[in-house]
Amino acid sequence: MSDVVSLLRQIEDTGRDVRGPGYQRPGFSATERELRDWFLAEAARRGLDTEIDANGITWAWATPPGENAVVTGSHLDSVPGGGEFDGPLGVASALAAFDELKSSGALERARRPLALAVFPEEEGSRFGVACLGSRLLTGAIDAERALGLKDSAGDTFAEVARGYGLDPERVGRDQPRLAGIGSFIELHVEQGIGLIRTDQAVAIGSSIIGHGRWHFSFAGQGNHAGTTPMSHRADPVVAASRVIGDIPTLAAATDASAVATVGRTLIHPGGTNVIASAMSFWLDIRHPDDAVVEQVLDAIRQRAGSHAADAGVQVTVSQESYSPTTHFTAELNSRLTSVLPQAPLLPSGAGHDAGILAAHVPSAMLYVRNPTGVSHAPEEACEVDDQRAGVDALVRVLERELGLTEPTGPEDDSAIGSTEDSAVGPADDSAAGNGGVR
Ligand code: GLV
Ligand code: MN
Ligand code: MN
Repeated sequence: MSDVVSLLRQIEDTGRDVRGPGYQRPGFSATERELRDWFLAEAARRGLDTEIDANGITWAWATPPGENAVVTGSHLDSVPGGGEFDGPLGVASALAAFDELKSSGALERARRPLALAVFPEEEGSRFGVACLGSRLLTGAIDAERALGLKDSAGDTFAEVARGYGLDPERVGRDQPRLAGIGSFIELHVEQGIGLIRTDQAVAIGSSIIGHGRWHFSFAGQGNHAGTTPMSHRADPVVAASRVIGDIPTLAAATDASAVATVGRTLIHPGGTNVIASAMSFWLDIRHPDDAVVEQVLDAIRQRAGSHAADAGVQVTVSQESYSPTTHFTAELNSRLTSVLPQAPLLPSGAGHDAGILAAHVPSAMLYVRNPTGVSHAPEEACEVDDQRAGVDALVRVLERELGLTEPTGPEDDSAIGSTEDSAVGPADDSAAGNGGVR
């Protein structure tokens, strides 16, 4: 079959951003569907049974389906202007790992079922909520709230889901499916610089730092840019922009390793000679201590209140999603370390479906070196040798999970628990050093 490099080449032109380098692969879009259909075709070519579940998650069974399954996969959607590997590397590696397990005859001896999975709308770029598919599966988002989410065109998730072939009545927590997952392993391109400083191509995830998204909406009085004196304006752009300008200082004053980002704004109605009637921005805040995230938010929210009052506009703040800091299952990580003894443990500033699943099933992550350290941008990279090293690591982990290899040494769970905090190698770097915070 194809190796991971040629699998990725098959989709390298799908969803290319026509406005410049990078990709536009929004969740539940025609592009994501095209990528999903590619995955379905590749799975079918390998003789795997496939299904799309009630939440739009695609499953390909490498063995007959069953309980206590080992599941591996990632996502195929991207952020606006995203890179080539964030998501697809994990999906292509899952297919390539299957090929290796099949050709070595290992699958015939597997003691547990194996499935490959693709999660929709991981980035939350369309409906605002990150990891929408895995949140629905686990009940981390209420189905009713999810169905009412709107994209920027005003279409609800209920409408879009129906167009995608899903039944809105069936969307939501899927306990039987969740209970069938024995362990979930997600391979992902590293989104920071942790591995660049090592001679290792692959790391094991230790934790995902807490992160959330909030929508700030400022409402003022639309008016004429030429006839309205400066003293008579209630301009939401002035208030919102002042808040955005204050965010770096407010975050740093709360905690030096807190990160807070505004990467998306919307001005309504958006005319050069029009004083806007409304402006929104979306705020992303991350820190390993959930209380610090809350403090940063409070500081920004208070500042928004005072700038809004000064400009004579109203501000409302609503939370779109929040994921507390997740520590990956020590027992599972101990098994990963037993087959990948050289792999450092890395915390991550980036969110993943594995982080959502971890609250319900033993979950783990493998990160593959990214020589630029850049992610969520076209410069994201992964050398072909490292892509192959990632697949090798995934194969070893899957063999271990499928009961095909014995541990090479004693599996001391407490040792893993402590390394997670004191973090070997680059894992003890600050958030900036780990660079997962990108
Ligand atoms: C997803 O990659 C995120 O961390 O926002
Ligand atoms: Mn990702
Ligand atoms: Mn991402």
